[in-house]
Amino acid sequence: MTNTILLGPPGAGKGTQAELLCQHQDLTHLSTGDLLRAAVGAETKLGLEAKGFMDRGELVPDTLVLALLTERLGQGAGGGFLLDGFPRNVSQAKALAGELGDDGIQHVVYLQLGDEEILSRLLKRGRKDDTEEVIRNRLSVYRAETEPLVAFYREKGTLRPVEAVGTVEEVHARVKTALQGG
Ligand code: AP5
Repeated sequence: MTNTILLGPPGAGKGTQAELLCQHQDLTHLSTGDLLRAAVGAETKLGLEAKGFMDRGELVPDTLVLALLTERLGQGAGGGFLLDGFPRNVSQAKALAGELGDDGIQHVVYLQLGDEEILSRLLKRGRKDDTEEVIRNRLSVYRAETEPLVAFYREKGTLRPVEAVGTVEEVHARVKTALQGG
């Protein structure tokens, strides 16, 4: 079983690349963004609590995110988990290591993309949290809380940096190469 994390700023293509990887491999795609949006849509207690944070582009508190994810992680995955948007800070990364073990993650694909390309992609997509003001806040939250994970996973030897510029197919080819080389 090979577990992989897709790490990178908002709009870098984590969800897009996750879907492509899952078409060709037996992976269980877990996107905390998708799980949270489903909870908001279903108006569950957790969803109602998470909504304001998401609308502002802030991180949803760890307790809520972990409640959503740990049960699913405990069920296991055939070929492995493909985590998209999780972990988002060092404390989530430590909680994940608690669930899967210290060596439970084999690859961390780090999608790198500049702010202007991010802004352009997300404004075109137009999700509810894709207004310029909220995107800029998501970016600053990313720099402050999520980017420290780059050093965290580099130290563990699992970081696989990938340039996320170019077409979806070009990025996918780079992701596959990075996973083979790791
Ligand atoms: P989440 O859903 O994870 O959003 P995000 O990280 O901001 O990522 P995006 O979905 O915006 O981008 P992506 O990298 O997946 O890119 P995508 O493939 O969609 O989180 C949303 C919110 O939920 C957070 O702000 C937070 O509040 C909360 N949350 C989630 N997880 C959390 C956690 N663990 N802890 C706490 N809070 C959490 O691509 C973007 C667009 O670009 C698409 O339109 C796509 O078609 C296009 N595109 C993709 N690749 C290319 C390409 N190569 N060329 C041109 N266009 C492209």
